[in-house]
Amino acid sequence: MSDATRLAMPALPHAPGDRLEVVSTWNTETPYQSWRPQILVPASFRPAVAPVTYVVVNQKGGAGKTTTTVELAAALAATDLRVRVIDADHQEAALSRWLVPQYPAGEPQRSLRSVFFDECALAEATYPTLFAGVDIVPSGLDLMRVEYERPIGAEQTLAAALARETEQHGGPLYDVTIIDAAPSLGLVTVAGLTAADRALVPLGVGGLDLLGLQSLHRTIRTVQDKTNPKLSVAGVFLTAWDKSGFARQIAERVALDYPEAVVVPVRRSVRAAEAPIAAQPVRLYAPESATGADYAQAAGILLAGEMT
Ligand SMILES: Nc1ncnc2c1ncn2[C@@H]1O[C@H](COP(=O)(O)OP(=O)(O)O)[C@@H](O)[C@H]1O
Ligand SMILES: [Mg+2]
Repeated sequence: MSDATRLAMPALPHAPGDRLEVVSTWNTETPYQSWRPQILVPASFRPAVAPVTYVVVNQKGGAGKTTTTVELAAALAATDLRVRVIDADHQEAALSRWLVPQYPAGEPQRSLRSVFFDECALAEATYPTLFAGVDIVPSGLDLMRVEYERPIGAEQTLAAALARETEQHGGPLYDVTIIDAAPSLGLVTVAGLTAADRALVPLGVGGLDLLGLQSLHRTIRTVQDKTNPKLSVAGVFLTAWDKSGFARQIAERVALDYPEAVVVPVRRSVRAAEAPIAAQPVRLYAPESATGADYAQAAGILLAGEMT
C-alpha cells in the first residue's frame, strides 16, 4: 500500500484553554469540586528519546490499554514519527480490529504468533494500516498457543526480534514501538515487558481497578530483576477520567506508587468510545474530543520533540 493512499493524522484544533495544566506536584489540599485535572510531571522525569519501545500493561481488561496504544500512536504519527504498534492480546485482538492490517494479496498472513514460533522476522509480520506512519504487527486467537506451548526462550523473543531487526537494517525501522499487552500477566506480557524500555500503565478510576496494581507492581519488579533491568514505568493514564472525589484519591495513590512516572488524567468522551467501531483513531474520528487532546499532550511529554 503506497503512502499516498494512507490517511494522515490531522493537526488538532487549537483551544489553549482546553489543554490540561502541567504541574510537578499536585495540591491535594483543594476540595475536589474545585480540582481541575492536571498532568503530573515529577521533577525527576526525563522524556524518552527515539528510538524507544513502550509496553502498555495492566492485567485488568477494560483499563484503556488498547485506546492508549492507538491514541499515542496517532499523536506520534501526526508529528511524522514512524510508529509500529504490536498487538500482544490474543484474548481480544482489539487492536487488530481497530487498526486493520492491510495484508498484501496472495501472501501468507503473518502475525505476532509467527514471530514467537520463529516462522518469520518481526518486519515480515508488520503491515501497514490505513493511517500514515502507523504500522501494525497483528494478532489473533492463535497467539494463545504461546501460553501453552511455551516455545523455548519465549520471554526473550520480542526483545531479540527487535534487536536483530535493528542490527540487520543498520538502525531502527521505527522511531517508536508500542506493545498493547493482554489483560493477563502471562508469557507474552512478560515478553513485552522484557522488550520494552518503558512501561505505561492505564488505569480505570474504579475501586476494583486498584486491586490489581500490587500484582502488576510485583511482575514489573521481577522483570526488572531478571530479564530487563532498564525497564521503568514512565506513565500512568487515568482513563475515562471523571471529576469525583474517588478519582482524585486514585490519582493521589498512583502518584505515590509510581513517583517517577507522569500521571495523566484522560478525559472521558463518547466519541472515544465510538472510535474503535469506526475503525479510526479518536484523533481522526473526532479531532475536537478532549480524549484525543489529552493523549496528544501526554505524547509530547513522554517523548522529547515537538508535538501538535
Ligand atoms: N477516554 C475514554 N472515554 C470513553 N471511553 C473510553 C475512554 N478510554 C477507553 N474507553 C472505552 O473503554 C473500553 C475499554 O478500553 P480499552 O482501551 O479497550 O481497554 P483494554 O485494552 O485495557 O481492555 C473501550 O470500550 C473503550 O472504547
Ligand atoms: Mg485491549
